[in-house]
Order: sequence, then structure tokens, then C-alpha cells
Amino acid sequence: IPVDPFDLVIFGATGDLATRKILPGLYRRFFAGQIPEGSKIVGAARTAQDSDAFRAQVRAAIEEFVGAAKRDPAQIEAFLSIVDYVAVDAMGDDGWAALAQKLRDGRVHAFYFSVAPSLFGALAERLHSYKMAGPEARIVVEKPFGRDLASARALNATLAEHFDEHQIYRIDHYLGKETVQNLMAVRFANILFEPLWNSQYIDHVQITVAETVGVGGRGSYYDKSGAMRDMVQNHLMQLLCLIAMEPPYHFDPDAVRDEKLKVIRALQPVNSSDIVRGQYLAQARGDCDTPLPGYIEDSENPQSKTESYIALKAHVANWRWQGTPFYLRTGKRLRARTSEIAITFKQPPHSIFDENESEWRENVLVIRLQPNEGMNLKVMIKEPGPGGMRLVQVPLDMSFAEALGEDGADIPDAYERLIMDVIRGNQTLFMRGDEVEAAWAWTDPIIAGWEARGDKPASYDSGSSGPEDALMLMHRDGRRWREIR
Ligand code: BG6
Repeated sequence: IPVDPFDLVIFGATGDLATRKILPGLYRRFFAGQIPEGSKIVGAARTAQDSDAFRAQVRAAIEEFVGAAKRDPAQIEAFLSIVDYVAVDAMGDDGWAALAQKLRDGRVHAFYFSVAPSLFGALAERLHSYKMAGPEARIVVEKPFGRDLASARALNATLAEHFDEHQIYRIDHYLGKETVQNLMAVRFANILFEPLWNSQYIDHVQITVAETVGVGGRGSYYDKSGAMRDMVQNHLMQLLCLIAMEPPYHFDPDAVRDEKLKVIRALQPVNSSDIVRGQYLAQARGDCDTPLPGYIEDSENPQSKTESYIALKAHVANWRWQGTPFYLRTGKRLRARTSEIAITFKQPPHSIFDENESEWRENVLVIRLQPNEGMNLKVMIKEPGPGGMRLVQVPLDMSFAEALGEDGADIPDAYERLIMDVIRGNQTLFMRGDEVEAAWAWTDPIIAGWEARGDKPASYDSGSSGPEDALMLMHRDGRRWREIR
């Protein structure tokens, strides 16, 4: 959908997220012809430098983070010509009047807060006092959105002083991932799945977000956060909502978010026996002199009890999901980078085949978020050949890139899509204030529980699939995690 020319201001424009994701993403949208002529991208940060110096930085970011096929010199020049820079002091008055002058009347003004949450209030306040918080303004805020319910509420209240909820775009970049949106398409644009989408037919759901990276480089942030706050409260929770929610009456921001909110509110408190936390150990590598550091070294906190891995069993207490557990797990330094949702169906009520002869398996619908976005439905068929009615399980595999040809291979990055949604004024893929608060309301007692008990996370080997205890979480229910690979 084409947009009108807009002004986008990125606070924290010299930071890591802007360099790795936001600026390269904007360039890619420009390359795709989606950023209309006359638009303006203004970098704003504390660094005193002129626009040319910033443009050189943007050029370097494009060189590093945009694929060669899209690095066209003429396009890069054209993109840089809409890029500008103002040095501003978030806590003082320097630069604000100059920033206000850069913006043009009668168009969308988007302000991306790619800065520490402690600065959100100051930025909102300055935007207001320099008359940039009018109805044309939209603000985009990154996670972490608070570290508990109280701080999230305070943050919401601060932003609400100067902006209406419909002007606030809280990013959860998982919602911008192609396959995550496909979850809604699969559920609500097909008749096949929805009739079976409940506890009568679904045995359990597994949500896995496994990463191979450690926390090195951002250990001091991470150590105060941990996997529960960093990943479960937001990304995994959003995935769970999209699987568990009722059909919204329309694909409309509030209709979708109302349904997600109901799921979060229906989540039951989690028993301590249904939680496994882990922390990765150093990885000794045979042929390498310097092993990868363990979590304790990465976080530079020898006493750390922070989890870099968590697995838990959640229950959505409503009619649809009564009796169907949702197993969630996420961790750093695991065997492979893989994110997927696996929906395991129940067995047919009666088998007409001789089960001894067959390897009987349930139907599983696997939705791969990354890498290789796609879907895979495991079905039972007859083994080919004359040897009688032996059943085998085979995948009906669909890689989106293959199915969609070139278009599929060119799936836009989550940030690209989300930024364009801000410009279009579409909040469907952004979290509403009450949703974030409800998510913390569920998370807080879980964290308070292990903190009060002084629980230490179990150790796990880097490159493994997590702590042994996590296997037990499912084994004792007669189930198994899918392999991380
Ligand atoms: C971020 C977390 O929100 O998501 C990181 O803070 C994590 O710890 C990252 O690595 C994962 O995102 P992606 O898109 O690489 O799966």
C-alpha cells in the first residue's frame, strides 16, 4: 500500500539497533520504491556531528547489512539525499528547535525511540514542549517496555501524558516476522484448521525460540533481564496469543488486540514445578584455543542467578484450551538457531489398522519462523510397496520461499514491515498498553517466585538443547520436545 511523503526521526540514530536494523531496513524499503519522494529521515543523537558525517555512517550500515543485490550506488546516493541529522540532548534543550524546523507541516511525523527506556519520558516531554506532539505525531518505542508491571504502568502513564494510545507504537519485532503473520492467515483464511483448533483435537502446543548466540556484548543489560523478561514476556507470549486467540471479527488493530488480551488474561499462574531455568557453561572446542565463554563470564557477574534458558508449561484457562498445555522454551547458546511452533494433534479415536505393524505418530503442524520460513504438516500414509498396509509418517512440506518463488525469497525484515505500518497508521502488529501490562501481570509472580526461593538456574552445555530437567518437564507428561536443529 503506497504511503504519502513522511518525516521519520530516529532518536538513538547512532546506536546498534538503528545501525543494524532500522537504517538498512529503511534503505531496503526505499530500494523497493516504498518511500515516496520528498520524505525525510532525520537521525537524532547526542553525538555532535554534521549530516554528512551521519550519512557516511548510514552508507557504512547499508554496505554491511544490506545484501549485494540491493546495493545499487545510484539508489544509495538517492537514499542518502533524504537523510539528515541533528544533534539533540534528550535531557536538555540543545538541538530541539533545530529538529522542529526540519519537519514539514501536513504530513506524518514518526519518532522512533531507539534509546534506553529511561529516556522515553524526557523525549516525550521535549516533543511536547517543542510542539512536535500534535495529531500528526506517532511514536515508536522498543522493548524492554518496563521490567515488571509497576514500571510498565509508569511508562504507559508517562507516554500518555503527551500522546494518545493510537499514536503509540510498541514494537515487538516478532509480530513483524512473515511467518508470524502467516499464523493468522493459516488459521483464519482456511477452513481446514480452525474446526480442529481446540483441546478436543490438539494434544499440546510447543513453542521454541532457540538461539546459538550468547549474551556477550550486552551482558549487563541481559543479566538484569534474563530469558523470561527478554523473550517470554513479549515474543513467546505474542506467539502463544496468536495461536490461542479466538477469531477476531476483523483484521483490525483493536479487534486483534482485544482477542490477544483475552488470552493473556486467561493464562493461569505457573507452578514452580512447571518451570526449568538454565544458564550456559563455557564451550570447550576441540581445535580452538579460546573456548566460548560461559554465561558467568559473558555477564561479568560471578554470582549471577539469571537464566539464559527457560522452559515452562502454561495453561490457557478457557473453554477452547481446557486440558491442552502450551510448552514454551527459549534459550541462548543452544545447538541451533531455530524458532518454531509445533501443534501436535491427538490420535484418531479408533484405529482400523494393525498398529503393531506401523510406526504410529500423531499429526503435527509445524510452523517454522526461522530460518527457512515455512510450514510442515506431518501426516500418516501407507508405506509404498506391496508389503501390506504399513503406515508411515511423511511431511507435507511447504517452504514459503519455494512456494512463492522470487517473492518468497525476498521476505522483508520484521523492522521494515513494522516501520512502514507506523507510517500507514496501522497498529495491528503493535502491542497495546493494556496488553503489555497484562503480560507483566502474568510474568511478575513467576519471577517473584524463583527470586523468593533463591532458585539457581541449572547449568547446560553450550551447543546442547538446554538443561536435562527441561526434558523431564515433558517426559513426565508422556510427551517429548521436538529436536532443536
Ligand atoms: C530480542 C532479544 O528482542 O530478540 C534478544 O532482546 C534476542 O536477546 C532477539 O536475541 C532475537 O530476535 P531474532 O529476530 O533474532 O529471533
